[in-house]
Amino acid sequence: KAEVRKSLYTLLEKSSEHFQTQLREHKNRQQVVNYLKTRGLTGEVAKNFGIGFAPPGWDNLLKALGETEEDKKLLIEAGMLIAHEQENKLYDRFRERVMFPIRDLRGRVIGFGGRVLDNSKPKYLNSPETPVFHKGKELYGLYEARQAYKEIPRLLVVEGYMDVVALAQFGLRYGVATLGTASGEEHLRLAFKYTSEVVFCFDGDEAGRRAARRALEVSLPVMQDGWQVRFLFLPDGEDPDTLVRQIGPEKFEGLIRDRAIPLEDYLFDAVSDGLDLKRMEHRARLSKLAAPLIYQLPKGVYRELMFQQLAKR
Ligand code: UTP
Ligand code: MN
Ligand code: MN
Ligand code: MN
Ligand code: MN
Repeated sequence: KAEVRKSLYTLLEKSSEHFQTQLREHKNRQQVVNYLKTRGLTGEVAKNFGIGFAPPGWDNLLKALGETEEDKKLLIEAGMLIAHEQENKLYDRFRERVMFPIRDLRGRVIGFGGRVLDNSKPKYLNSPETPVFHKGKELYGLYEARQAYKEIPRLLVVEGYMDVVALAQFGLRYGVATLGTASGEEHLRLAFKYTSEVVFCFDGDEAGRRAARRALEVSLPVMQDGWQVRFLFLPDGEDPDTLVRQIGPEKFEGLIRDRAIPLEDYLFDAVSDGLDLKRMEHRARLSKLAAPLIYQLPKGVYRELMFQQLAKR
């Protein structure tokens, strides 16, 4: 079992090297380099995040790394090859995509996200769950953030790979992304092992606002004294990538500083929608909606203060 895991790590690392080599040497490389340039990325950041290229074709990785039957089996287990059910044939999972390696805290490659170069669907393809890759437990960019700071000032939880990389491109190297899954309590616990402040910053759209509400609800039961959780809501149609590109890193950090809403305020905002607190029946409704959320918090001073806050409101 431990042997298998070790071989999986090795093959994933080799896959990542393969994709990076393709980005440097493949005959279509200019198309990818241009794409990365239109997204504002320099070679330095691309290198830092190990960004690569899976060229078109069904068997590039298979040919490069699937030398023995044993390796082929391991590449399937690593999520890099797919076995065609009827034809007993193998093919590459990732084809014609920009590749983002996902690393664990020790820097080992454990999976990939791959983005198409055009508007085809699905836009992003992620590695499946494997013995070394558990989406609910990983934060993309956390390894890189730890490399960048002695003490990580905060972690900004964003939706996408590109958001993390674009922020880093502008010197904000504390972005992390959940991997095509909603943020769960394990993500939060993980983040707070390495920083004292977490800011959720999802896309300025309906899905992003739903994600924030969900992040609030999963955060409540695991909140601990000393944890600072805030929420930064972006203008409609923007995500961290488009916004940092538009306003630059200083203003973006200014928004985090001045506009990110502490969890304790967001909780009340989230249930106050459409309420007119001058009216008693609306105050009653606020109380009815907020109390169950506050009860989700662990017993303690923070929870008591929240009830006081509710009474005040
Ligand atoms: P978004 O849909 O917000 O990405 O998905 P985006 O901002 O439009 O992407 P770009 O900027 O054009 O590149 C955010 C994240 O959700 C996951 C990926 O992790 C992605 O980074 N996702 C999205 C998928 O897993 N699959 C998809 O098809 C789309
Ligand atoms: Mn989108
Ligand atoms: Mn989105
Ligand atoms: Mn985007
Ligand atoms: Mn987005």
